Amino acid sequence: MARVAVVTGGTRGIGEAISIALSRKGYRVAATYAGNDEAAQRFSAATGIPVYKFDVGDYDACEKAVAQVTHDLGPIDVLVNNAGITRDAPLHRMTRAYWGDVIRTNLDSAFNMTRLVIDSMRGRNFGRIVNISSINGRKGQFGQSNYAAAKAGLLGFTKAVALEGAAKNITCNVIAPGYINTEMVAAVPKDILESKILPFIPVGRLGTAEEIARCVVFLAADDAGFITGACLDANGGQYIAS
Ligand code: CAA
Repeated sequence: MARVAVVTGGTRGIGEAISIALSRKGYRVAATYAGNDEAAQRFSAATGIPVYKFDVGDYDACEKAVAQVTHDLGPIDVLVNNAGITRDAPLHRMTRAYWGDVIRTNLDSAFNMTRLVIDSMRGRNFGRIVNISSINGRKGQFGQSNYAAAKAGLLGFTKAVALEGAAKNITCNVIAPGYINTEMVAAVPKDILESKILPFIPVGRLGTAEEIARCVVFLAADDAGFITGACLDANGGQYIAS
């Protein structure tokens, strides 16, 4: 039987590319989304991948969705915690709502979804969890104390879950994309992008969503079982960690 993969935020941006790449590799994919029905319907019609609408920051909604996906496709073998938002502002202008929205969607979501699949993965002695962090969780970023905190949180979460899953053939890894050519990066003010970001990407360009998707395919594979607790940086050389 083909393995079942869930990609949160899987209908647009990096998540869309991940859903498509896993589907092309033969996974039965469920793509989740929060609000943009039009994009989700277009994505589903174009790819044949079923979509599930719910808020990944809401534990009860996640519980219902995981039950629905399991009913429709089977138990979840691969979980890609990709859903994320930005609410950028320097700390002195950051509101509690900006802080809370980002922590909830980008970090609480990983707890919610992973907690809800872990028992089944443990029971079946197999699981692949891939968390999508960010270069900005690795190095920090002006205007992103909320986002950097959430994305750095995913790094610690990954390491702990990796240790706990190891004996049950459940790997947990994290990918830290750099600046990728998606709507999220297109929303960065043009002058900031051109003066503060692009000049610091040694490969001289933004990354593509497909370049991140291929990292997920690599880590999700059955034969990637010896890689766990790792952080895969894909950032064009913008941040080179030891
Ligand atoms: N480093 C140093 N200084 C910076 C800076 C930076 N990266 N960005 C802005 N500044 C400076 C500006 O030059 C400006 O200085 P002066 O007043 O001396 O000219 C000052 O900070 C204020 O800048 P803004 O006028 O832009 O301030 P603002 O309050 O209107 O906006 C901001 C602040 C919202 C943070 C805006 O600068 C911004 O959007 N920056 C981009 C943040 C960013 O990179 N977000 C990543 C989004 S993509 C993503 O998150 C995906 C991923 O994982 C990589």
